Amino acid sequence: MLIAPSLLSCDFSRFGEEIRRMDEAGADYMHLDVMDGHFVPNITFGAPVIKYVRKFSDKVFDVHLMISEPLKYIDDFCDAGADLITFHIESDSDPLETIKKIKARGVKAGLVIKPKTPAESVFPYLDKIDMVLVMTVEPGFGGQSFMADMLPKVRALREEIKKRNLDVLIEADGGIGVQNIADCAEAGVDVAVAGTAVFKAENPKEAIMQLKQLG
Ligand code: DX5
Ligand code: ZN
Repeated sequence: MLIAPSLLSCDFSRFGEEIRRMDEAGADYMHLDVMDGHFVPNITFGAPVIKYVRKFSDKVFDVHLMISEPLKYIDDFCDAGADLITFHIESDSDPLETIKKIKARGVKAGLVIKPKTPAESVFPYLDKIDMVLVMTVEPGFGGQSFMADMLPKVRALREEIKKRNLDVLIEADGGIGVQNIADCAEAGVDVAVAGTAVFKAENPKEAIMQLKQLG
């Protein structure tokens, strides 16, 4: 299981140092939550900020776009140094066009599904993407409770990916910690996002190690 700390829970006055700290603590991906106050009821940061903090780590910059019209901003996030861009299938950009745009820039592309969106909605795109991100909370805020009833969706995706012999990672995001990471792994999650569980831990390095052991 790969661990992707969500920087949403970090001290933003020291954003760069927080990324370095996660790098040294053994994070596999840096999960960067971009929110626009329109697609979700919260605002975080955009491409210019990611560009500034890019130099603090060589780990995978996993950019989770919770924005309207993601297609318009793909170039900005690629220029900022994203390695992987995931965007919501519920957003108003054409999924195929958006995937194409990301891939044309040599960046990995993924689709995100909110809790009410079925797994099957991404099936038509599975052969064109590198990742499916399954939300295990409603997107917008850190610190919410894990929705265990999302795990059947993970299982359905895992089965479909296996059946079609595809190379697509499954990421899960929201409320993940020591109490549920083993269930995530068992269902077929490859990458677990963890905000609160890592940043509110006394020792983030130990927290990441423990999540990896259990996952
Ligand atoms: C929620 C974000 C998540 C969130 C995870 O909209 O996409 O990445 O920060 O934080 P925790 O682990 O605290 O739920
Ligand atoms: Zn996220």
